[in-house]
Amino acid sequence: MRPGDGRALGPLLLLLVLLHCAERRRAIVNRSVSDVCATCHIHATCHQIEGKSVCICNYGFVGNGRTHCQDKDECQIGASKICGNFTLCHNTHGSFYCVCLDGYRASNNNKTFIPNDGTNCTDIDECEESGLCGHNARCVNTEGSYKCYCNDGYKLENGERSFHADGNMVSCKEIGCGSPPEMRHGYIVGNYSLLPGSAVHYECEEGFYTNNGKFSYCTANETWEPAALSCKGVDCGVPPSVLNAHPASVSGTTYGSKVTYSCVRGYFIASGNQTAVCNAKGQWDGTDLVCKEEELFSNLSVFNETCVKWQRKTGTPGMQEIYTFHILGQRWDEKVFSEDVIFNISTSEDNPKVCLDLNSGSNYVVNITTISSTNVSVSVTVAVQTKVREAFSNILIFNDTCLKWQRNVRRTDVEDRYLFHVQGQRWYQKEFFHEMTFNLTTHKQAPEVCFDLQPGTNYSVNISMVAFNFSLLVSLTTEITDPPSPDVEFIAVRGSPPLLRLQKAEDQNGPISLYQVIVLPLGLQNTFICDTFAAATFFSNTTDGKGYVAAEFRAKDVADNMSIALGDRQYYGKFYNAPLKLGEEYCVFLRIISEWNKVRTQSCAVWAQIRTLISTAQCTLHLLL
Ligand SMILES: *[C@@H]1O[C@H](CO)[C@@H](O)[C@H](O)[C@H]1NC(C)=O
Ligand SMILES: *[C@@H]1O[C@H](CO)[C@@H](O)[C@H](O)[C@H]1NC(C)=O
Ligand SMILES: *[C@@H]1O[C@H](CO)[C@@H](O)[C@H](O)[C@H]1NC(C)=O
Ligand SMILES: *[C@@H]1O[C@H](CO)[C@@H](O)[C@H](O)[C@H]1NC(C)=O
Ligand SMILES: *[C@@H]1O[C@H](CO)[C@@H](O)[C@H](O)[C@H]1NC(C)=O
Ligand SMILES: *[C@@H]1O[C@H](CO)[C@@H](O)[C@H](O)[C@H]1NC(C)=O
Ligand SMILES: *[C@@H]1O[C@H](CO)[C@@H](O)[C@H](O)[C@H]1NC(C)=O
Ligand SMILES: *[C@@H]1O[C@H](CO)[C@@H](O)[C@H](O)[C@H]1NC(C)=O
Ligand SMILES: *[C@@H]1O[C@H](CO)[C@@H](O)[C@H](O)[C@H]1NC(C)=O
Ligand SMILES: *[C@@H]1O[C@H](CO)[C@@H](O)[C@H](O)[C@H]1NC(C)=O
Ligand SMILES: *[C@@H]1O[C@H](CO)[C@@H](O)[C@H](O)[C@H]1NC(C)=O
Ligand SMILES: *[C@@H]1O[C@H](CO)[C@@H](O)[C@H](O)[C@H]1NC(C)=O
Repeated sequence: MRPGDGRALGPLLLLLVLLHCAERRRAIVNRSVSDVCATCHIHATCHQIEGKSVCICNYGFVGNGRTHCQDKDECQIGASKICGNFTLCHNTHGSFYCVCLDGYRASNNNKTFIPNDGTNCTDIDECEESGLCGHNARCVNTEGSYKCYCNDGYKLENGERSFHADGNMVSCKEIGCGSPPEMRHGYIVGNYSLLPGSAVHYECEEGFYTNNGKFSYCTANETWEPAALSCKGVDCGVPPSVLNAHPASVSGTTYGSKVTYSCVRGYFIASGNQTAVCNAKGQWDGTDLVCKEEELFSNLSVFNETCVKWQRKTGTPGMQEIYTFHILGQRWDEKVFSEDVIFNISTSEDNPKVCLDLNSGSNYVVNITTISSTNVSVSVTVAVQTKVREAFSNILIFNDTCLKWQRNVRRTDVEDRYLFHVQGQRWYQKEFFHEMTFNLTTHKQAPEVCFDLQPGTNYSVNISMVAFNFSLLVSLTTEITDPPSPDVEFIAVRGSPPLLRLQKAEDQNGPISLYQVIVLPLGLQNTFICDTFAAATFFSNTTDGKGYVAAEFRAKDVADNMSIALGDRQYYGKFYNAPLKLGEEYCVFLRIISEWNKVRTQSCAVWAQIRTLISTAQCTLHLLL
């Protein structure tokens, strides 16, 4: 080999490495600078080429620069041998060295050299006898003879170092083991020697490991023990399970394999990585995914008795969501749900509020369902209790003694039971007390009830629904009816009028207000109608033949068995008790009048028939009923 050729080999090698990397580069140019540089192998360096970042294995290593930079066997590179002519090449981890062949010597006089400093092997130009001893031996003159000595580091096959070359072809061989064994998926670390007793230290490539030693020793037999070494690839095993997630894809379990997790239905990614990678130590890196349940509702609460509100937790803000309300309702007195309503509402609010039209005095189960972005339906259920505002309403009095009202229930197949407590009192009759209690069960929407009430009475009607602890008080006033017929003893006399005796009437159908003594001249055309008889005085210009009131007493002034003398020329109230004319025939009536609440009723009785002259006519009374 010519000295100087080695100089060109350095840059040539680098170019070869670059060409080797060119294919890989295409795959990684799209990444960002920092991204790519961070992925460089520990035996690689980040380079900027054409504005792109590229990982290139360091000198002496070969690989893709990222996952792989393996020691390059420089000795095998190139068409011509790297060490030049007349050399042996020895590969080391990350480097190599050269040794000159027997009969050659390194130009730097060292046993080993690296050709890039221009060192070459040149023929040893020694004494003439050199040819006698063969390669790697030197000739030493002795007296009349010579002796051959193997060069340092060389020996004969039989181990001798000196010999006499008497024409037999003996040659000195280099002492030591040959190239150390290759380690599968491994490489040699540091320097080593080929001499017996030396050791070669190996390490496994990233992602590989070995259990049976990292050293091979050069034995006295000049063999490497162990003769073969290998590294096994790490295995991360089954990817670990992540709570509420499942592995969606797994590329393998060896170094660099990836597993991608997805949250299960109804859960969303709260934090962490979806992808975990099998690292060089055989562990899955980055299994920190946290999946949380999709909370479509939170803080659901009831307010204003019948309104519900909640907060939208996840999902797309501002997006229209449909909520399906399923409402089951049951009145307090019912055993089963009698109301069953389903409807939808749609809102994009983040804090929706919905007020429900609910019956009072009922228990409700409100079930709200919505569909999440991942098409999972989520329900929440809330209990709503409504107080009794009105168990019934719109009470109406009709026909004086009847009531009707409206039930506050939507369905007619629900029966309601009402309790009635009726109490009647009369201010004019302290001892009077009328009381009734009864039940009514009905499923009518507008029930009616009529009471059997006494006349001229103030009633209070307490209608209650015991089931609801709800009651209403209604006041009723019944009209007075005709007072009882006056209790009189009929007297028929001729001559002077008799003393009439008055009995008190009872406040039976209303308060008795007045007693009137009515005198009617008896004529053929005369009829007396109790209700329509005008209370004319004796002096009225209408009295001729029609009769007049002779006396009027207020009820409170009347005492039992009070006697009245007809024609005593006294005023009773505004009425004049005029003397009866002689030769006339009269009928005398007693009229009792009840007045209450602007209603006036009366009853009459024939009290006496008086004839001051002989007559054949008869007293008659026509009652208008
Ligand atoms: C090596 O030796 C051969 C023959 O002697 C010669 O042709 C060749 O050029 C030499 N190579 C180098 C690199 O010196
Ligand atoms: C070998 O090296 C020596 C010393 O550096 C030099 O003088 C000589 O020319 C070289 N030989 C070749 C063939 O390069
Ligand atoms: C080889 O020679 C060079 C220069 O001739 C010297 O510097 C060096 O120490 C020697 N040894 C090795 C191992 O290179
Ligand atoms: C629930 O609502 C209350 C007040 O309405 C509020 O203070 C609280 O932060 C809410 N909780 C959540 C989890 O949103
Ligand atoms: C509750 O109802 C009352 C009366 O109906 C109303 O004034 C009030 O605003 C309501 N409260 C809320 C929080 O809606
Ligand atoms: C409510 O909405 C759901 C889904 O949009 C639909 O399937 C359902 O029929 C609707 N129900 C009513 C009562 O409108
Ligand atoms: C609420 O409604 C959903 C959908 O109809 C149903 O699956 C769920 O069982 C209901 N929950 C209750 C408590 O009724
Ligand atoms: C109420 O009075 C009207 C007329 O007076 C009558 O036709 C009707 O039957 C009465 N109703 C009841 C419930 O008594
Ligand atoms: C009864 O009715 C009268 C007249 O309407 C009224 O003045 C009185 O207060 C009532 N009494 C009762 C006890 O309701
Ligand atoms: C009406 O009756 C109910 C049930 O007996 C009772 O609780 C309520 O106090 C009564 N109301 C009145 C005003 O008397
Ligand atoms: C019924 O209602 C009255 C007031 O309206 C209340 O004082 C009482 O405690 C209620 N009774 C029951 C059993 O709820
Ligand atoms: C009764 O007398 C009054 C005056 O005292 C008079 O205005 C009225 O017209 C008379 N009626 C009849 C029916 O004569």
